[in-house]
Amino acid sequence: MVEVPFNKPFVTGLELEAIADAIARRDLSGDGHYTGLCENELERLFGCSKAFLTHSCTAALEMAALLLDLGPGDEVIMPSFTFTSTANAVVLRGATPVFVDVESGTMNIDAGKIEPLISPRTKAIVVVHYAGRPADMDAINAIAASRGIVVVEDAAQSLGSTYKGKPAGTHSQLSALSFHETKNIVSGEGGALLVNDPAYEGRAAVLREKGTNRRSFLQGRTDKYSWVDVGSSYLPSELVAAFLSCQIGAIGNVTASRLSAWKRYRSNLQAATDRGLELPDEISAEAVPNGHIFHILLPRAELRPGFLEAMKARGIQCTFHYVPLHSSPAGRKFCKTPDGCPITEDAAARLVRLPMHSDIAPQTVDFVSAAVVDVLREIAA
Ligand SMILES: Cc1ncc(COP(=O)(O)O)c(C=O)c1O
Repeated sequence: MVEVPFNKPFVTGLELEAIADAIARRDLSGDGHYTGLCENELERLFGCSKAFLTHSCTAALEMAALLLDLGPGDEVIMPSFTFTSTANAVVLRGATPVFVDVESGTMNIDAGKIEPLISPRTKAIVVVHYAGRPADMDAINAIAASRGIVVVEDAAQSLGSTYKGKPAGTHSQLSALSFHETKNIVSGEGGALLVNDPAYEGRAAVLREKGTNRRSFLQGRTDKYSWVDVGSSYLPSELVAAFLSCQIGAIGNVTASRLSAWKRYRSNLQAATDRGLELPDEISAEAVPNGHIFHILLPRAELRPGFLEAMKARGIQCTFHYVPLHSSPAGRKFCKTPDGCPITEDAAARLVRLPMHSDIAPQTVDFVSAAVVDVLREIAA
């Protein structure tokens, strides 16, 4: 039996009441009362031009790809150490992801390796804030701005994180959030597209509503609505929005408690670095994470199966993370990796995520940390 689960979805206890209210309103499809509440709250928190609730981060990334008019021949630079959705959004438009390596201390895109991959075909750079730690946005934006390339943030994991005092997700033209049950704030499945550059706002509303101007119609700005552009159905139902509306206000507390567990893990495990364990970089003043994931890099990749088994035997559920996309079957078929991704390959094979959720107790963090040290001693002996 698992005593320490890897994740425990966050609930406030208010969700059922909000869902009952959404039902009582007899307004169950998208863009109703609760969607409006959530979008207003996100716009207030992020200070973005417009927030559009979507049914997933995947949907928000697909909207971004449509908004950028990506097509065959276009290239988009992104890390290979990410979820399939980051690349799929580009591939679905017939364009080509070009993979760049990460830095092992953060597992974020290595800004210093982007420039050689830029060509006249490069339309965008997609940045992933891995584990909720913001990437080096100033360096990336400087490269992009000097060449007229758009930057998109895949902020699936970084709700509550800040870069230079401003929320992650607001350092680019467009960004995508996730409220999947594994994230810090959840609605089961769910996401949002944040539009930071107002030029994308009008078209984003149309793409999300099956290519129609229904939003203008609902706002009384047109007397009927019709098909005006390409699009799909990217909006969540009011039931999902009602659930989410109870969660957004808790971001501050959730971030504080996860970040405190993150810092405790890091300090507990510092001594084990003598035995070859690698920890994520210390938090810098400019890129403050949200404690979404605490990961370690084992001394050698071949130790990982035994490490995971031994932790499981102690009732602790740990897990690895992404298989680098450039080494996956679809990645080899649809994408390019001109310079290879040696750091990604090495670190991804050694990476283990430790249990983390918003009410993990300090004693649990200590118990898991002690087990990590013991198991490492056992298996590396
Ligand atoms: C970096 C990243 N991007 C996108 C996604 C997709 O999010 P969703 O499940 O909300 O579509 C995930 C999911 O874990 C992710 O980690």
